[in-house]
Amino acid sequence: MLWTLLLGLVAALLRTGNLAAAAQTANAIHRDPEIGLVFTSNFALYKSDGRGITYRIAVPDTAQQYTAYDAIIQMVVPNDVGWAGLSWGGSMPRSPLLVAWRGSSNNVVLSSRMASGHIQPTEYPGAHYTLFQTGTRSNATHWQFTALCRGCTAWQAPGSASARYLNRRGGNRLAMAYSPTRPASANSPSSAIAIHQVHAYWSHDFAQAANADFEAVVQRLMSS
Ligand code: HEM
Ligand SMILES: *[C@@H]1O[C@H](CO)[C@@H](O)[C@H](O)[C@H]1NC(C)=O
Repeated sequence: MLWTLLLGLVAALLRTGNLAAAAQTANAIHRDPEIGLVFTSNFALYKSDGRGITYRIAVPDTAQQYTAYDAIIQMVVPNDVGWAGLSWGGSMPRSPLLVAWRGSSNNVVLSSRMASGHIQPTEYPGAHYTLFQTGTRSNATHWQFTALCRGCTAWQAPGSASARYLNRRGGNRLAMAYSPTRPASANSPSSAIAIHQVHAYWSHDFAQAANADFEAVVQRLMSS
């Protein structure tokens, strides 16, 4: 067991060529006192010097398997990122995609997208994001946001016979994408975006991201 863990760590270090990655635990438990929820947290490198984007997810503990349930997504993004993407389906085509960037007045723009292939994704109305003021801010090095997503954990892609559901009780393969280029229409969620320079995958643990008071917290965040 320990041996497997060590091998995994060595493999990760070789892959990234960077010791900074060792400090980042996969599926770290992040208790956010400001939000009042537990998140599982994963860090995805986009530069070999150790720069990366943090992806955190919280879900309700009442969610049943094979149903649609809400999720809260929190991302921490270095200021040099043009746009940061998350694929809830773990690959680019036919998955709900979140594309996030900073608008012209330091505001966060969240764009819900889907792509039919490895082509420019278009707006996807099946998933809807509500940005919370709490847990959304920036400083000299990073920006972060916290948002509710409805429609990110279950979907039926156009032309597909069956629906996909994210596993509430274990890991889900997610994917990220990074571009250094800011979208042309800085404040428009439908802006054209440039292709990514980097993409990566990981298994995000949803079991330990379960929260008993999820709904109450959402109500509080909605009205603050
Ligand atoms: C203008 C927008 C985009 C274009 C033109 C584009 C194009 C492409 C192309 C051509 C590939 C194949 C690369 C290869 O095989 O090496 C690819 C792969 C990928 N893209 Fe995009 N992409 C765009 C936006 C996005 C966004 C917004 C996301 C996620 C939020 C994303 C996630 C991925 C991932 C994860 C892969 C790896 C292959 C896979 O898992 O499907 N892409 N993209
Ligand atoms: C800057 O903001 C990020 C995101 O909120 C945070 O993780 C980081 O600790 C902050 N840095 C400083 C120096 O406050």
